[in-house]
Amino acid sequence: MTHANHPAIEPCVLIIFGASGDLTKRKLIPALYDLDRQGRLPEQLCILGVSRTPLSDDAFRDKMKESVKEFASVFDDAVWARFAPRLRYLAGDGASPESFPALSKKIVDLGGEYKILREGGSPNVLFYLSVSPSVYEPIIDNIGAAGLVTEGHRWCSLNAASMPWQRIIIEKPFGTDLPTTVSLNQCLGRVFEEDAIFRIDHYLGKELVQNILVMRFANTFFEPMWNRTYIDHVQITAAETVGVGSRAANFYDTAGALRDMIQSHLIQVLCLVAIEPPSVYDASAIMREKIKLINSCPTLTDEQAQTSAVFGRYTKGSKPEDKAYVDEPGVDPKRATETYAAIRLGFDNWRWAGVPFFLRSGKRMAAKRTEVMVQFRKPPTNLFRHLDPALADRPPNRLLITIAPREGISLRMEGKVPGSGIKLASANLDLDYLNSFGGEVIEAYGPLILDAIRGDRTLYKHRDEVEGGWRVCDPFLKSAKLRAEIQDYAPGTWGPKAADAIIGAGSTPGLERRWHNLDSTSDATRTP
Ligand code: BG6
Repeated sequence: MTHANHPAIEPCVLIIFGASGDLTKRKLIPALYDLDRQGRLPEQLCILGVSRTPLSDDAFRDKMKESVKEFASVFDDAVWARFAPRLRYLAGDGASPESFPALSKKIVDLGGEYKILREGGSPNVLFYLSVSPSVYEPIIDNIGAAGLVTEGHRWCSLNAASMPWQRIIIEKPFGTDLPTTVSLNQCLGRVFEEDAIFRIDHYLGKELVQNILVMRFANTFFEPMWNRTYIDHVQITAAETVGVGSRAANFYDTAGALRDMIQSHLIQVLCLVAIEPPSVYDASAIMREKIKLINSCPTLTDEQAQTSAVFGRYTKGSKPEDKAYVDEPGVDPKRATETYAAIRLGFDNWRWAGVPFFLRSGKRMAAKRTEVMVQFRKPPTNLFRHLDPALADRPPNRLLITIAPREGISLRMEGKVPGSGIKLASANLDLDYLNSFGGEVIEAYGPLILDAIRGDRTLYKHRDEVEGGWRVCDPFLKSAKLRAEIQDYAPGTWGPKAADAIIGAGSTPGLERRWHNLDSTSDATRTP
């Protein structure tokens, strides 16, 4: 997010480990190119791709040009001519210490060429780990052992501002459970200061996710009702129509929906929906509130986890190419990996005690939809009940924040139907986010990388948040019963039927809780 009072974007060398990987090709380079097109990249920013495949600078540029053409929002030859010289390449294996003398030399050479060397003879460096998580720790250790991180020396220097900084962006999956995450955080902590570590979550780069705090705290009317007195429950959904396909073999079958989407992205969205107001919009104030919130989420016992979640996996579709998950190449059906998960969480705190939060995500579902649905309670009494039996049971207010596919906010309210007598109907106050506020939505990665160059961690995750997220999710992941009872669901549906029981349990009389399943935002007349 761009603030007028943001620290300046300083020149630096951005080193991408995993330069020949999918993320670099589909997201990182196209996002950086888009930033250049918008004039938002500093002139003295050089991008060094590091990967094992031997390639010349020009061959790397040719490959990236194809990616930019395919994945950037617009391709423009003049912008490419300006952007391409920034791209450099070094063949090397980040997991092997032997690659580091050449890397250290390259950093200094590029710093000299770009005239961005700082005190001590090095430029600012931003490392980006876009590699398999199995090599995160070796790469971090090698960066440390090669003496590439001198950040700590800045604090001992009288002239800290002229010393170079080193920062690191690290991709998800960030650990596979609490112990592995603690180990990765310890490894990072041996080499980098916590405020030089940028644990990226591309959901925090999404406009409507960032807008949650603005909506809650830049307006007067939501916050007084944003608590257990007025809110019945909250649903956070990330439904996708795509299947897992070739990702099953190298990643998904050992991850599953809970690790891939809920533990990371949806817990972050949940935090923004549920935190207390930070004292100011900045990284440390927001991180403090997120940590406090996660700490108030109880660790479930195995028994509680079993009754608070459902796992599912998709079956075969009608087209021959729509394979069942278990038939995707590389899937071991015995692992019972879930392509759908729904969980119920709660917080032991003053604001939310007793309010359930339902998080769900699945592949091959009926629609691509990422949304937050806040279900309010009904008014304390119904003044209209005696006028007509049809008025006895009216739906409560509901706020829908649609993050994807089309950003929007919709508040369902009751009104009088024009005409004689009193008849009630529901209608939506709809806000089409982009039409209303203008601006251009850009790929989430670009602004997040710029924030890291500025040293702004507002949209990144603190160590304690990530560890807290795993503490909350581990009981579901480790429950043998949940896995043994994994449910099949047909592609193109909203997931397994058994998930209805998770949300339905504990409904208050007259206000039955149901999943918000629909494929359009204009559902004003539907009952809840
Ligand atoms: C990624 C997951 O982090 O997010 C993918 O690994 C998922 O499995 C993707 O498809 C969804 O992102 P978005 O931005 O399309 O909601």
